[in-house]
Amino acid sequence: MSDLGRSAPVRSFARIALSIGVAALATQLVGCGKKAAVDEELAAKLVQPVAKVELAAAPAAAPGSRKGEDIFKAVCAACHESGAAGAPKAGDKAAWGPRIAQGYDTLVKSAAAGKNAMPPRGGAADLTDDELKRAVAFLANKAGAGFKAPE
Ligand code: HEC
Repeated sequence: MSDLGRSAPVRSFARIALSIGVAALATQLVGCGKKAAVDEELAAKLVQPVAKVELAAAPAAAPGSRKGEDIFKAVCAACHESGAAGAPKAGDKAAWGPRIAQGYDTLVKSAAAGKNAMPPRGGAADLTDDELKRAVAFLANKAGAGFKAPE
């Protein structure tokens, strides 16, 4: 009788201790997993600036052969993506329709010389004529023009 009376509390104590142990182990494992994920995020953030610098340097490495889309992103998007300074937004057909109707050559001329709030060549003086033409075609074609840019 006395044996049974003692062993029951001991057994249930052991069971409680075991489940606490398992729970503690589980939280530790979860904690470890989280820490590893954070470290990966941090590592990715630390690497990013280097990757960004390489991307930005890539178009500059080959002057004369930069693509319209790359020039647009690097130079023109500052105004034409947001509509800053009253610039007609990329892809806005209502804003671009009357401009496109002036013809490719006229648009290239205004982009080269500058127009009102737009500085000559969008402020990128090192753009070659062909590069500027590619950027104008890329921008106007986003709003439905079918301009053929020089290769
Ligand atoms: C500093 C802001 C700014 C940047 C950068 C800029 N633009 Fe503009 N752009 C404008 C504004 C503002 C207008 C509207 C001018 C107006 O009609 O008053 C405009 C108009 C134009 C037009 C229409 C011209 C016309 O005759 O209707 C073209 C084409 C154009 N931009 C091309 C470009 C290209 C290509 C680039 C990049 C190489 C570029 N822009 C960069 C502000 C900018």
